[in-house]
Amino acid sequence: MSASETLHLAADLSFVHTDHLWRTSGSWVGYQYYGPDFYEEAARIAERGILDMLFFGDAAETPELFGGNYDTAVRLGVRWPKHDMMPMIPLMARAAPHVGFGLSMSTTYHHPFHVARLFSSLDHITGGRMAWNAVTSAYKNEAANWGFDTMLPSAERYDRAREHLKVVTDLWASVESDAILMDREAGVFADPSKIHLLNHRGKHFNVRGPLPVIPSPQGRPVIVQAGQSADGMDLAATYADLQFVVRRTPASMAEHRAVLDRLAVERGRSARDIGVLWQLRVQVGRSEAEARAKERFFLDALPPEAGLIELSFQYGVDFSGISPEMRLDDAAELVRAQNVHWGSFLEIVETEPPGTTVGDLGRRFISERSAHVVGTPAQVADRFEELHEAGGRNGGIILTKSFAAPGGLRDFVELVVPELQRRGLSKRRYAGTTLRENLNA
Ligand SMILES: Cc1cc2nc3c(=O)[nH]c(=O)nc-3n(C[C@H](O)[C@H](O)[C@H](O)COP(=O)(O)O)c2cc1C
Repeated sequence: MSASETLHLAADLSFVHTDHLWRTSGSWVGYQYYGPDFYEEAARIAERGILDMLFFGDAAETPELFGGNYDTAVRLGVRWPKHDMMPMIPLMARAAPHVGFGLSMSTTYHHPFHVARLFSSLDHITGGRMAWNAVTSAYKNEAANWGFDTMLPSAERYDRAREHLKVVTDLWASVESDAILMDREAGVFADPSKIHLLNHRGKHFNVRGPLPVIPSPQGRPVIVQAGQSADGMDLAATYADLQFVVRRTPASMAEHRAVLDRLAVERGRSARDIGVLWQLRVQVGRSEAEARAKERFFLDALPPEAGLIELSFQYGVDFSGISPEMRLDDAAELVRAQNVHWGSFLEIVETEPPGTTVGDLGRRFISERSAHVVGTPAQVADRFEELHEAGGRNGGIILTKSFAAPGGLRDFVELVVPELQRRGLSKRRYAGTTLRENLNA
């Protein structure tokens, strides 16, 4: 949601530990690999930049699609390792009292009762700063880790997701906000008439309810959706407060926004009920030359296989066995048949110049998967403004993977945020205590 036209800021910390970023300057190296100091420091930096949210995507797998085994991915550290980020959230919440936290949890592999109870508990512990990224999980190797011989087809994953989100939101609503009395004199803890059974019996889940929790500060933690096929858009329009989107040009962002607005209204909601966080890769320097040098360093750190491993991971096809001369239009047929991230591949096909080959894309995929900007603080702020405008000033920007942290995050906060604030685009202070309040301010 985004009741105001503020440009909301978020950073995706999902892959700062992988994808060659450890080789770049400003990376986490020097911190314990999976330890609190790095995450607490990142949260403090985000708080200084008045970022609304730190975000964690997830895919619990070791990528094996490229070449039919995990050797290259593991050797180079692409998309691997991948720890569970949930335990870091209470630590970060203590270090930074206002930043919100987005955590991904799959509607395909996790039970809605578990998700509802966990996010309600996290919302308590963070004082109302939790968002759930409800993902349908389109990664083939991950399916095998959760007990599936093959990944469920897209339509089935979304069918499950629709029921999952209904159960989770009904569970959050099953304890009314004024149900807790804690009347010591009368000895009454809570009013049972304000606590409701679900008795949900569905195609995928049976849940009796109610949720055995005290209502959390937000009651209904912020819901994020990240899937951009027709089914994904439908799910966002029905349930999401925020959509997390990868589009590559202002024109396709405006188009995306128009579809989402129409769907929201068709479902009895307002366009402003759903903010969009556009993915953007940022490389900022004090001068243009410095920014370009940092970009060069980043690109040089990428092994040539990196883009193809990532493409294999995202699109379910072994790109090691595909001719680099194959045109993207032809590869699209292969990708479509995999039932994975079709929405975002179509975006690539539509925004690449005609004649682009698999080899061309592989070389640039890590650095150009989403929109990106390299430049001075003013140039970066210009780009933010352009994209925010294209998105109808309804949401904001999420710094996507491929920035070194904490160094890259610190540069962003010290160099770009003051320029965004000076232009009146982003907030100078947090307006509220909950994530929902801050996203609306
Ligand atoms: C920007 C973006 C981020 C995503 N992040 C995750 C993630 O962290 N974990 C995950 O399992 N799926 C993630 N997904 C995948 C979606 O949940 C969905 O399964 C996938 O996009 C396929 O659906 P679609 O065809 O509707 O795009 C992401 C998708 C997008 C577009």
